[in-house]
Amino acid sequence: MIKYIVQGGSRLSGHVNISGAKNAAVAILPASLLVDGVCRIENVPDISDVRLLLEILRNMGASIRRFGRNTLEIDCSHVRNATAPIDLVRRIRASYYLIGAELGRFGHARVAMPGGCNFGVRPIDQHIKGFEAMGASVEQLGGYVCADAPEGGLQGGHVYLDIVSVGATMNILLAAVLCSGMTIIENCAKEPHIVDLANFLNAMGAKISGAGTDVIKIRGVERLTGGSYTIIPDQIEAGTYMAAAAAVGGDVTVDNVIPKHLDCITAKLREMGAKVTEYDDSIRVEAERRLRRSNVKTMPYPGFPTDMQPQIAVCMALAEGTSLVTEGIYDNRFRYTAELNRMGASIQVESKTAVIDGVTQLHGCEVRACDLRAGAAMVIAALCAEGTTTIEDAHYIERGYEDIIGKFAAIGGKIRRIETFEGSSQDAAG
Ligand code: EPU
Repeated sequence: MIKYIVQGGSRLSGHVNISGAKNAAVAILPASLLVDGVCRIENVPDISDVRLLLEILRNMGASIRRFGRNTLEIDCSHVRNATAPIDLVRRIRASYYLIGAELGRFGHARVAMPGGCNFGVRPIDQHIKGFEAMGASVEQLGGYVCADAPEGGLQGGHVYLDIVSVGATMNILLAAVLCSGMTIIENCAKEPHIVDLANFLNAMGAKISGAGTDVIKIRGVERLTGGSYTIIPDQIEAGTYMAAAAAVGGDVTVDNVIPKHLDCITAKLREMGAKVTEYDDSIRVEAERRLRRSNVKTMPYPGFPTDMQPQIAVCMALAEGTSLVTEGIYDNRFRYTAELNRMGASIQVESKTAVIDGVTQLHGCEVRACDLRAGAAMVIAALCAEGTTTIEDAHYIERGYEDIIGKFAAIGGKIRRIETFEGSSQDAAG
């Protein structure tokens, strides 16, 4: 059990260095299964989702060497078709990428149904539709997804996604790179991490074009060989610190970012009254006055990301006037609003919209992190609040934020981490 004790009320100022993108890393690591050689991957975020995936790959026979905190060399040439351990797979949503990667490499995959944050039903029918378009037969048996290529292997196919899905786009890409012929994915997702996965695979010898547009073409190749690759900075981690600076107040520069990936967040914070200045690879957020109200609807990239919805809601909870947040991706991503209300926010959820009446002050109390981004939002709210806030279930936050306590400490945020082991309690960081 991990909890954070947050002391609110200090203004934030200074620099934060952004880590590699979680949602790129969790696809690129399984993608290394497709490579016949050593992949050197830099800027890998040191987060629990990544550690879990590495444990899964190790269990499957991959040899993995670490250089410092964020560089890995992964060699999967000796991995034989092995079922990833169910207890590990179920703990992470991104384990679904093992289906595409195993199917592409071995012509067969057997992977437990993935876990991950609970925002309502999260089906994988579009992933399956893509595998079937390449000739695979896919069944869901006893909690496992079993996929088999036809005799003679997967053949390039044409798939039009019914829903713009990040996971389906990446998974179909993974299955398609080594199959024969051309695969075309239409109405695909355009997130920066999709471009990053395609760039990684191309750096290893794949032939993928169109990533970042809504049509991706993959010409199958016989073999991928090793190489080096650096993962892009995390758009959502950067957005989280930008929202924190705007909500808490202060002067924060997020370094090692791609400002273009943050356009929608920059625009929203400017609209709400923060001063946001873009540099080549950093963004400065200055907020000295109370923010103004705004509305936002989450959408696939380049729209406002659902993974920033709870964090921007905290900005709105303290802004002047009434703001509306509409969730356009998931059925149920508002569970955290009840926790914010316990801190004194005034948020009413009506179906897919949260109506937020801005208040002037939040108050510290006991809350919980309902999921990864909700947890980040609780940290921001707690830093804004008067007094001390205890955030239970903070392990969710560590799935996707490298050293969040150290990074906030560097800009003046006071967070203490307490990890409780069965029967004992250990204060792990100051
Ligand atoms: N959907 C279907 N069928 C499918 C696939 C998706 O109905 O086969 C629906 C989903 O239920 C959802 C919508 O389509 O309503 C979009 O889902 P998508 O597939 O794009 O999401 P995902 O791949 O499950 C990834 C990220 C999420 C992020 C979403 C949207 C990973 C491991 N997860 O999830 O990240 O919210 O894309 O951008 O990459 C996070 O980082 O906090 C997080 C939850």
